Amino acid sequence: MGKDTVTVINNITGESVELPIYHGSHGPSVVDVRPMSKKLGLFTYDPGFVSTASCQSAITYIDGEKGILLYRGYPVEQLAEKSSYLEVCYLLLYGELPSAGAMDEFQQIIMGHSMIHEGLRHFYSGFRRDAHPMAIMVGVVGALSAFYHDSLDIDNPRHREISAHRLIAKMPTIAADSFKYSIGQPFMYPDNSLNYVENFLRMMFAVPSRDFEISPTIVRALELIMILHADHEQNASASTVRLASSSGANPFASISAGIGSLWGPAHGGANEAVIRMLETIDSVKEVPALIARAKDRDDKFRLMGFGHRIYKNFDPRAVILRKACHQVLNELESEHLPLFDIANELERIALEDEYFIERKLYPNVDFYSGIILKAMGVPLNMFTVIFTMARTVGWISQWMEMLEDPEYRIGRPRQLYVGKMQRDYVPMDRRI
Ligand code: SDX
Repeated sequence: MGKDTVTVINNITGESVELPIYHGSHGPSVVDVRPMSKKLGLFTYDPGFVSTASCQSAITYIDGEKGILLYRGYPVEQLAEKSSYLEVCYLLLYGELPSAGAMDEFQQIIMGHSMIHEGLRHFYSGFRRDAHPMAIMVGVVGALSAFYHDSLDIDNPRHREISAHRLIAKMPTIAADSFKYSIGQPFMYPDNSLNYVENFLRMMFAVPSRDFEISPTIVRALELIMILHADHEQNASASTVRLASSSGANPFASISAGIGSLWGPAHGGANEAVIRMLETIDSVKEVPALIARAKDRDDKFRLMGFGHRIYKNFDPRAVILRKACHQVLNELESEHLPLFDIANELERIALEDEYFIERKLYPNVDFYSGIILKAMGVPLNMFTVIFTMARTVGWISQWMEMLEDPEYRIGRPRQLYVGKMQRDYVPMDRRI
């Protein structure tokens, strides 16, 4: 860490304190505010953690101004073009690209864990058929700790690695089963002769009564979506996983908490929300009215798939997916389905509109991933489940990193109290 400092002076008391500045390898430096609360008795105040670094991390780097996204230093554009989702999993987990031998071994391990305990499959029957698959994911993933308690010692590195492998391996099976249950079709068992993404698509769309074939375009598009969604530093769901597991909670319960956070429409639920928003529009003529609602400060409506807390020029994932989106739509000959024409018109108008330009609101990853998934025939309520499947490796890599961080301790933010001062209890007969 560096030796630079900033001085904070409390103008009320005249007290001051030197706060160390730490410099990372990329991006903004940070000020360690811990001495301030000790010396000046002051907390920092930062609702939404817009300006707060919660940890140090070496996994993912984002430069929101330049539209840069690196996984362990590798540009996501290069990984999207040249890598596979499982190789990106290895990279995020272990920090380096694998050798051919290490990749084969990793693939064997992951595919070897792809089945779930039969008892867990009975768990699904407790849900209503019309349960949202994300609700099922939260429940079933949380319940994994009731089945795999042989490796829950979070202080044991080997247990951490086994739990990480289990989560990466089983998420596609749990996800596909969540979908199959919701439509009343039989679960498909994993086929370990297929690659990770093909295996998921087969479990999702195959039925026991006939052979299954899937377009390589769809496999590649889903692989791309999963690579681009694998991690994204300290987003809401990753921070949820870190905070939940900082108490020593087991990884399955902590990842289940992250799934709950990702489900929100402002976060991972945005891809589903994009299509639901587009489906409310009957023709391109209605697009200006939708944009007007998004700009109206008295209207809580926001344009789903637009804007980002960090990317203020473009989301590099959206740039990559935009190209893939047009390829998929073209290949599947759905380029001119009304919904996709409306999406194109919405994108065109928003990018020219002063409100969006001034606030640096661009289409984000969810705008295009929602459209691609819709074109691929993925059911709407499975969009965020796919995001969950892809992001599991990011969450669990950050979980492992946190537990190995010497500065790791239970997360416990403070507050600015604005409530009542101390007062005495009033008996019922004396209340107004
Ligand atoms: C993801 O954190 C991550 O990295 C997340 C993610 C990941 O990979 O993990 O990248 C995935 O969650 C992508 C974002 C998906 N969400 C959406 O598409 C939902 C729509 N977007 C908004 O909800 C919003 O843009 C957020 C939540 C993404 C960002 O919100 P911020 O950073 O808190 O922005 P803000 O609320 O401070 O907005 C600044 C201004 C406000 O207007 P003013 O008060 O200045 O007049 O921009 C406006 C907002 O009203 N604004 C929008 C808008 N997003 C922001 N206005 C209309 N439509 C929008 N989508």
